[in-house]
Amino acid sequence: MSKQTVLTGITTTGTPHLGNYVGAIRPAIAASYTGDVNSYYFLADYHALVKNQDPARLKQSSLEVAATWLALGLDTDKSVFYRQSDIPEIPELSWIISSVTAKGLMNRAHAYKAAVHDNEDSGSRDPDKGVSMALFGYPVLMTADILMFNANKVPVGKDQIQHVEMARDIAQRFNHIYGETFVLPEAVVDKHAAVLAGLDGRKMSKSYNNTIPLFEPSKKLRKLIMKIKTNSLEPGEPKDPDDCTLFDIYKAFAAESDTAAFRQKLVKGMGWGDAKQELFEYLDAHLEAPRAEYAKLIADPGHVELVLQQGAERAREYSTDFIGKIRKAVGIQPLG
Ligand code: TRP
Repeated sequence: MSKQTVLTGITTTGTPHLGNYVGAIRPAIAASYTGDVNSYYFLADYHALVKNQDPARLKQSSLEVAATWLALGLDTDKSVFYRQSDIPEIPELSWIISSVTAKGLMNRAHAYKAAVHDNEDSGSRDPDKGVSMALFGYPVLMTADILMFNANKVPVGKDQIQHVEMARDIAQRFNHIYGETFVLPEAVVDKHAAVLAGLDGRKMSKSYNNTIPLFEPSKKLRKLIMKIKTNSLEPGEPKDPDDCTLFDIYKAFAAESDTAAFRQKLVKGMGWGDAKQELFEYLDAHLEAPRAEYAKLIADPGHVELVLQQGAERAREYSTDFIGKIRKAVGIQPLG
């Protein structure tokens, strides 16, 4: 059997945080070292455009996301690392498949439905207020990302499963009309990937404004960690590690033996201040080397660009050939 293709996109909005790292980046990078699959990782900057209309921020976020993945050791020889907007075959495919995509399917997308509900709740007369065509068609572009490289497996968070299922539906419909062309993709949700709690104890997420960015300088990292919400137990009183954001974060990073030791100290009544200091020291030591690498990369955007261009070149070896076949399948081809 030929190698499976694993593909996932990273929307370039905002600065990567600890939650992104343990939930998505770390498992993907670990997988990039095993040569037994073809892996494709890309910056979904066209998707970022849907929500971000500040050009400087969009550009900065692409640099930050790319630098983060590289600093954390993504193996760009074993995996193909590129930027969506460098692959013109993707938007081309997006248009082609939109012709076999029912509008009704898009009506059912969670993100679109949520926008409509918000409008209805706020008493707006237009249920589509603030909904762009790009927001509405978001799953079609994502489908093109996936089908362009015939991905078998698509690692995503829970919120994206529906989109991968739509990609599967659309691929099936295309194959039905035009003949076997696309592999039917499958979402993979890593049940073991940690979901990290943020500063306020809710899931760490940009939309809750409770994140700890991955590569803050030491001092700022310490400050943020000191802000993590704890309860009012005094030093000396036993703490419950399983109901404790500090422990949750520590556990996501530390080796098992260190985690066990930290657990013991909390149970024995270590004060919150000391616990925070310990978490800070652990994280700071863990992040020191990639943080230095990240700073180097941010200071040398030309190098990051070069890496992305090399990735795009490899990706296009596949996509230019495949789009030719797709065009032919639908009847867009030279006349004579
Ligand atoms: N929509 C995904 C997210 O928000 C990012 C993404 C874009 C993606 N294209 C993709 C993920 C293709 C997997 C496959 O997380």
